[in-house]
Amino acid sequence: MTASPAPGGERVRIYEVGPRDGLQNESAVIPTETKAAFIGMLADAGLREIEATSFVSPRAIPQLADAGALLAALDRRAGVRYPVLVPNVRGLERAEAAGVDAIAVFTAATDAFTQANIGMSVAASLDAFAPVLERATTLGWWRRAYVSTAFGCPYAGRVDPRRAVEVALRLLELGVDEICFGDTIGVGVPGQVAAMTGLAVDAGVTIERIAFHFHDTRGTALANVAAGLDAGVRCFDSSTGGTGGCPYAPGAAGNLATEDLVYFLDASGWDHGVALDGVLTAARFIADSIGRPLATKVGQAGGWAPIAGSPTT
Ligand code: COA
Ligand code: ZN
Repeated sequence: MTASPAPGGERVRIYEVGPRDGLQNESAVIPTETKAAFIGMLADAGLREIEATSFVSPRAIPQLADAGALLAALDRRAGVRYPVLVPNVRGLERAEAAGVDAIAVFTAATDAFTQANIGMSVAASLDAFAPVLERATTLGWWRRAYVSTAFGCPYAGRVDPRRAVEVALRLLELGVDEICFGDTIGVGVPGQVAAMTGLAVDAGVTIERIAFHFHDTRGTALANVAAGLDAGVRCFDSSTGGTGGCPYAPGAAGNLATEDLVYFLDASGWDHGVALDGVLTAARFIADSIGRPLATKVGQAGGWAPIAGSPTT
C-alpha cells in the first residue's frame, strides 16, 4: 500500500462528519450554540464539506432534534457545503425550510441494518428516497447517498461487496451525485477496499462518484484510506475529535479522526486544503464540550515538524 501522491498534488476531499455522525451518539445534550461554534471552527480549519446535522425523527436521534435551530444559528460561509441527512419527504421539507442545498440519504447493504436504523428494508428505503431525490434534483441540490454496512453488519455479519454495489447502482439511478460506502462497524481491511472499488467501477460507477466512510474501530481506517487512494478514490469521511458511531449499530464507535487523516495526507504529500492546527483546535473544543479527553492519535501526539535546520534526506 503506497498511497503515492499523484504528480502535481492531486486533490483529496475531506468530508467532515463530526457534527452529525460524531455528535448523534452523544447522550448529554449539546447546546445548539456549541454545535454552531464547532462547525465554525471546522470551516476556519479549511474544511469545505461539513455534514451539519440530520432532519430525521427527533425520537430516533434526540441529539439532533435542534437541526432547524442549528441551521438558523450557523454562520454559513461561501464555498462551504453543509449537507444534512434526510430520511424521507418530511425531512426534505424541513431541510428546505432551513435553507439547505445539499443532502445525504442513507441506506445499507443489509436489510437487518436498515430495519434497525430506519425501520424498513433496503428496497423500501430506496422507494422512500425516490421522491426525496427527485425533489432535491429539481431544486438543484447536491445529493449524496450512504451505503452503510458495506463491509460488515452488526446483525447479518459478513457482507457480499456485490450487494453494496447493487444498492449503489440503484441509488445512482435515483439521481445521487455521490455514493459513500460505509464501514459502519470498522471491520474492513485494505484488500476489501480495493476489491469493492474495483467491483463498483466495473459495474459502471465512475470513480469520481465514490467516497469511503471508515471507522477506526479495529485500527484499520488509515490503511483503508491508503487502499482507497491507490484505487483512485479521492473523497474520504472523517470526524474531528474521532467522535461518533451510529446508535443503531452496536460496536460502531470511532469514526476515523480528521486530525489523523489530515496528518496522514499531509505527510504523504496530498493536497486537501485543511490545516492540522485548526482541526486540533476544533477537536479540543468538542472534546471539552462533551467532557471527554481527546482520544485520537494525532490529538494526543500532535503533528510533527522536522527540527528546524536539521539536514534533510
Ligand atoms: N423529521 C421529523 N419528524 C419525523 C420525520 C422527520 N424527517 N420523519 C418522521 N418523523 C416523525 C413522525 O412525524 C412521527 O412522529 P409522531 O410519533 O410524533 O407522530 C414519528 O417520527 C414516526 O414517524 P414514522 O413515519 O412512523 O416513522 P418511523 O417511526 O418508522 O421512523 C424514520 C422512520 C426513518 C423517520 C426514523 O427511523 C428515523 O428518523 N431514523 C433515523 C436514524 C438515523 O438517523 N440513524 C443514524 C444515521 S446512520
Ligand atoms: Zn461513521
